[in-house]
Amino acid sequence: MNTRFFALGLVGGLTCPLALAQDDGQTAFNNSCRTCHTMKEGDNRQGPNLAGIVGRKAGSLPDYNYSSSMKQSGITWDEANLDQFIANPDQVVRGNSMKPYGGITDAAQRKTIIEFLKSGD
Ligand code: HEC
Repeated sequence: MNTRFFALGLVGGLTCPLALAQDDGQTAFNNSCRTCHTMKEGDNRQGPNLAGIVGRKAGSLPDYNYSSSMKQSGITWDEANLDQFIANPDQVVRGNSMKPYGGITDAAQRKTIIEFLKSGD
């Protein structure tokens, strides 16, 4: 169990009016992303870890074996391109290896996941 998250969740729950939205984001992340991704630095699974992903250069972790498409995409992840990527990865990075992943069509759900990604680094 990720104790850092647990602590963040506790603090958030006590002090932050957005805690509910963050819980939704965490649930959505768990449902849609966690089979392949963790938010823990150094903890790569089928996909690279997403610690600090907002503001991180795409394909930049030295210890993860990215597709060449991802490495050469030249993107730095921000809220806008993450939103597009989560909706339809191939539209943002053609030939990426984030598979099988169907995309999330619900914009509100993508937003809560991105809020979670931002809070969880
Ligand atoms: C089936 C496994 C799988 C699922 C589910 C999945 N991913 Fe991925 N993800 C990957 C793989 C594999 C890569 C590496 C892609 C490449 O190198 O082309 C990746 C790459 C990424 C990257 C780029 C990371 C970087 O360092 O540049 C982001 C951002 C990302 N995923 C976010 C998500 C989010 C958010 C979700 C849930 C909405 C999700 N992924 C669901 C497997 C998955």
